[in-house]
Amino acid sequence: MSEAPVVTIDGPGGAGKGTVSLLLARRLGWHYLDSGALYRLVAVAAARDGIDLDDGDALARRVPGLRIEFRLHADTLQVLLDDVDVTAAIREEACARAASRLAVHAGLRTALLPLQRAFARPPGLVAEGRDMGTVVFPQAPLKIFLTASAEQRARRRWLQLSAAGVDASLAAILDDLRRRDAQDASRTTAPLRPADDAVLIDSSDLTADEVCARIAGHCQERGLTVGTDPVP
Ligand code: DC
Repeated sequence: MSEAPVVTIDGPGGAGKGTVSLLLARRLGWHYLDSGALYRLVAVAAARDGIDLDDGDALARRVPGLRIEFRLHADTLQVLLDDVDVTAAIREEACARAASRLAVHAGLRTALLPLQRAFARPPGLVAEGRDMGTVVFPQAPLKIFLTASAEQRARRRWLQLSAAGVDASLAAILDDLRRRDAQDASRTTAPLRPADDAVLIDSSDLTADEVCARIAGHCQERGLTVGTDPVP
């Protein structure tokens, strides 16, 4: 495994991992891995190539041939699959559902391991997902488990969608989120759970900046450099 230090941020959907991880990566001047985007990309590729979401072997075989590009901008991540911009497509709720469904396959998860670990390059990596601290980067010097109440997470997602002009029902989002939580936490391979040595943070009553500041404090305690000049 790489020598580069890794901060892992795991937790359920809607806890604010994405925003906080991006903020922290910029603050540290480190690389950023959105592992959920990888699962979502596989869902997009499966739909495009007609691969059954229940066929774990076929999904795993497809991974090495995927040309994936992550471009980190000021506060967004642009995602390309085989040179096609799929940034918006991977954020659709249908894609999230498909990603959660295919994420149960052990073979697929194994196929994605080298891809994820390749992100750990100097000066360091902020990696977010469900199993970053437990499976992908078990040696990480700082592991965060970020939670928030289901109601708060659903409300945040609803606000995001409303801001984007999408007409969505709060009750339906809450239902969907609970279903996905149950699926992610109950699967046998790499279920969503905090690593034994994870620091738990409940973001229900905190802003993303406040959560980021707390994590930066933990970084400093562990001697992980917090820079003031974010890398471009
Ligand atoms: O974080 P997200 O909502 O973009 O993730 C989409 C799905 O991908 C999630 O429901 C479960 C799966 N996932 C996973 O199994 N392991 C990860 N490290 C990240 C995501």
